Amino acid sequence: MDKVLFVDSCIRSDSRTKRLAAKLLERIGGSVSSIDLKEPGVVPLSRIELEKRESLIASRDYSDPMFDYAKAFAAADVIVIAAPYWDLSFPSVLKVFIERTAVRGITFTYTDDGVPVGLTRAKKLYYVTTMGAEGLPYDFGFGYVKAISSMYFGIRDTELITAEGLDLDGNDTEKILSAAEKKI
Ligand SMILES: Cc1cc2nc3c(=O)[nH]c(=O)nc-3n(C[C@H](O)[C@H](O)[C@H](O)COP(=O)(O)O)c2cc1C
Repeated sequence: MDKVLFVDSCIRSDSRTKRLAAKLLERIGGSVSSIDLKEPGVVPLSRIELEKRESLIASRDYSDPMFDYAKAFAAADVIVIAAPYWDLSFPSVLKVFIERTAVRGITFTYTDDGVPVGLTRAKKLYYVTTMGAEGLPYDFGFGYVKAISSMYFGIRDTELITAEGLDLDGNDTEKILSAAEKKI
């Protein structure tokens, strides 16, 4: 059975993005574990923590809980990231998660020539988002996640699942979401 990691970056309590992600998780099946980025403690790396992290990585000691996100990410067969479209990209907690997941020796390493090589086992990463407007670029949200997944984590198969126009006057939000669910 596939190990599925659900990274929940949905901040609002009645999140439409999370609704689509729930449909996708139902469709994928497998054994799902979740990381809720609304939890306290999802904070940017401080100078002190970064120095500790660098020293632990140098001594290849990955036992500290600060490496838990990276370990969970590296061990998953399928990854589902749900993140609403915020300010052309995604909520900042997702960047914090990625910062804490990109750990040399767990999710990627470097060849002798300095080229990053992925160490994760995931065969597929889904990025689920919803957008208030329509037709805005995905480069800074999904595009970024796709780039780091393929260039650092070694996950080549990434897929965008989206619904747009949810906040536009006159749009039938329920109809848009139902159509997106049907597509999933
Ligand atoms: C802080 C914030 C920033 C947002 N930025 C954008 C944006 O740049 N472009 C856009 O079309 N919609 C933007 N929206 C609207 C959301 O993309 C839209 O409401 C989305 O469906 C929210 O997903 P959710 O229901 O999962 O929270 C923003 C909403 C919030 C709360």
